[in-house]
Amino acid sequence: MSEQSLTVKEAIRGRRSIKLFNGQPVDREDLIEIINTAVWAPNHGNRQPWRIILACDAGLDAVKELIREYAVPEWKELSEEVLAKKMQKFATPGAYAFVIVPQDVRQKERYEDFAAASSFIQNIQLLAWDEGIGACWKTPNWIDHPKFRASLGVKPEERIISMLQFGYFDTIPHEKPRKSAEEIVTFFGEKE
Ligand SMILES: Cc1cc2nc3c(=O)[nH]c(=O)nc-3n(C[C@H](O)[C@H](O)[C@H](O)COP(=O)(O)O)c2cc1C
Repeated sequence: MSEQSLTVKEAIRGRRSIKLFNGQPVDREDLIEIINTAVWAPNHGNRQPWRIILACDAGLDAVKELIREYAVPEWKELSEEVLAKKMQKFATPGAYAFVIVPQDVRQKERYEDFAAASSFIQNIQLLAWDEGIGACWKTPNWIDHPKFRASLGVKPEERIISMLQFGYFDTIPHEKPRKSAEEIVTFFGEKE
């Protein structure tokens, strides 16, 4: 892993969700190092409401098989060609991480935990980007499928907040425009 290269601003502005990877595997040591920094995300009461099921090396092929099992039936209406294209997106990542949050029975804590886990995930994406590793946060419908969850080892009181795909890539997608601060900020206590 390289020492720091991008500034925080550069990482935030430059990162893109990578959805097409070149098939190169991602080293588990690199991901572990990224996760060890990402855990410094803010979270209420230091509950650290996250855990990760990581699929790399031997686990990578197994998880791709599992995904194929659940994704393909959802796309049964698609033509062979479109299906093959969609499946390619699941076959080329060099690692997968499923980020799991506890589903606290208390609503406030549950929302807080989801919010904290989101900042943890963005930390991961930014740190990966800094290492030249692309990432995409995905939430396909079937991540909540009871059998899929069970196959991964997700407990009933937990939820998968994100399926993170990681990998190396040859092209960077175009940026998606964002609203400016001027468009989204209103100043309290000031007249129009
Ligand atoms: C909660 C969440 C769920 C997402 N789910 C998906 C998904 O299921 N499939 C997908 O292709 N991208 C998914 N994305 C990634 C977005 O498509 C991506 O962030 C968006 O297009 C903006 O692109 P950028 O990240 O490159 O700026 C998700 C992002 C978030 C934050």
